[in-house]
Amino acid sequence: MHFLKSIAVAAAVALPMLSAAPGFAAEEDAIVKYRINNMKAVGGAMGNIVAQLKGEAPVKDQIAAYASILSQSATLSAPAFKDKAMGMEVKTTAKADIWTDWDKFEGGLKKFEAETAKLAEVAQAGNMGAIGAQLQEVGKTCKACHDNFREKH
Ligand code: HEC
Repeated sequence: MHFLKSIAVAAAVALPMLSAAPGFAAEEDAIVKYRINNMKAVGGAMGNIVAQLKGEAPVKDQIAAYASILSQSATLSAPAFKDKAMGMEVKTTAKADIWTDWDKFEGGLKKFEAETAKLAEVAQAGNMGAIGAQLQEVGKTCKACHDNFREKH
């Protein structure tokens, strides 16, 4: 039974890998998916910090941990966005200006990294007022970049 089960598991793992054999569309979509997952990590960490600050979360002692995740995710954004890809099947809201105006986009990323790193630091100290204030600064960097480089939807 175990043997058959392990074959079934191996096939289930191997088949999607085969069907996603490298081709232009698959490669484009993989790049888009990767950067969207990076932004989902950013958005998820941000959301759980806000929920804790508002007292709407089931916990309130994980702000510093999520601030650290947010800061780390921010440093992973530049490599995730570096390659131009607009996707084939995967929908993207990224504007092509990201790659024609990479210096400006990268400038936005640098500010985003700096403000999230500061948030991670402030969160360690645990002063809710200071955390809230720094979160506003982080929020401005999200908005500035989205206003310039993301399609309205
Ligand atoms: C330097 C630019 C930049 C910064 C800074 C930035 N984003 Fe984004 N974000 C983007 C772009 C571009 C997309 C669209 C990606 C795509 O669809 O390919 C995006 C997409 C998203 C998405 C949608 C993911 C999905 O499911 O499609 C979320 C959520 C998000 N960002 C949250 C945030 C939050 C929260 C912050 C700040 C803490 C932030 N972003 C900072 C550029 C940025």
